[in-house]
Amino acid sequence: MRPSSPNKRRNLVLALLLGLGGGVGLAFLFDILDNSVKTSEDVERYGGLPTLGVVPKFSLEGASKAYSYGRRLKGKKEPPQLGAGKTRKETGEAASSGVDATSPVAPFVAEVEKSERPGTIELVPHFFPNSRLAESYRSIRTALLLSSADNPVKTIAVTSAMPGEGKTVSVANLAVTLAQSGKTVLVVDADLRRPRQHRLFKIKNTFGLTTYLTDSVPIKDVVKSTEIPNLFVVNAGPVPPNPAELLGSEKMARFIRMMGEESDFVLFDLPPMLEISDALVLGAKVDGIVLVVWGDKTSREALKKAREKLDLLKVRTIGVIINNVNVPRHGAYYYKDYYHGYHRS
Ligand SMILES: Nc1ncnc2c1ncn2[C@@H]1O[C@H](COP(=O)(O)OP(=O)(O)O)[C@@H](O)[C@H]1O
Ligand SMILES: [Mg+2]
Repeated sequence: MRPSSPNKRRNLVLALLLGLGGGVGLAFLFDILDNSVKTSEDVERYGGLPTLGVVPKFSLEGASKAYSYGRRLKGKKEPPQLGAGKTRKETGEAASSGVDATSPVAPFVAEVEKSERPGTIELVPHFFPNSRLAESYRSIRTALLLSSADNPVKTIAVTSAMPGEGKTVSVANLAVTLAQSGKTVLVVDADLRRPRQHRLFKIKNTFGLTTYLTDSVPIKDVVKSTEIPNLFVVNAGPVPPNPAELLGSEKMARFIRMMGEESDFVLFDLPPMLEISDALVLGAKVDGIVLVVWGDKTSREALKKAREKLDLLKVRTIGVIINNVNVPRHGAYYYKDYYHGYHRS
């Protein structure tokens, strides 16, 4: 009655099963191959450490958008109506950077737009205090203060497993946020091999920490004020031949104690810790260490190794900052959209 071959039903069922199996198998395979740290659960599981906060990936557009949104809400006279959440297109509002000429960040945005370099995350809490990014540094500040409520930390060193994970940026932005809350903050660039804080704060890297530690330069000559109130910087100074020795010296220990007494917080920028011993040498002298990981990139092994090294030296690790998280991708998971929620309510 029917052709004996091909057996369509059997072939279809087989194809369906194979397709499903293959798809699920591939998904598992990719998951196994991807061994990067992504979420606070990963940090807890592979590093055994608490997460202090998450910093999204920076884009200038995102920063200025958040800024203009905040401004728009503040300028509104009537409370927002239900269903009034129209997009820019619907209201016909200009979709430019959204920063008008009278706003305090206008010169910065203009400068960034003029220069061909893309804007960077550096000092964003200073230039865009209303941005989401600034908000994420504020919640890291809160976590930092809460996590050390019983046993206050004053001198904090920031490091990471590998280079380029955002140590320098985290130190500078966290320092700005702490200074904004009225604390006196000192940033010390102890990354003597690749110093960069002086560039962020636009200071010449002539006299600095290394000069102080090797010569008899008075301390007031190396502590420099910045355009940000309450925030002071000790830049690294000329690159020495023996950074670890300098950081481990008795004079450095005295310097840390003295600076801790003079200011509310001292933040140290350090080199990466897996290949260079500087971070551990200094880490043993400060109140606590903060680790930075680069979301989706830092490997679980690197985080594990970093934790083991810190434990070996009995260094107090306060927690981890997950940097450069792709918010549109992991979005709702990490963020309650503050402005949006406010608008709707
Ligand atoms: N959240 C972020 N979004 C976008 N770029 C970032 C972010 N964090 C850091 N960067 C950029 O990554 C680069 C490395 O950061 P840096 O703080 O110098 O790393 P490290 O001090 O760990 O070597 C810098 O160019 C910095 O501007
Ligand atoms: Mg650095």
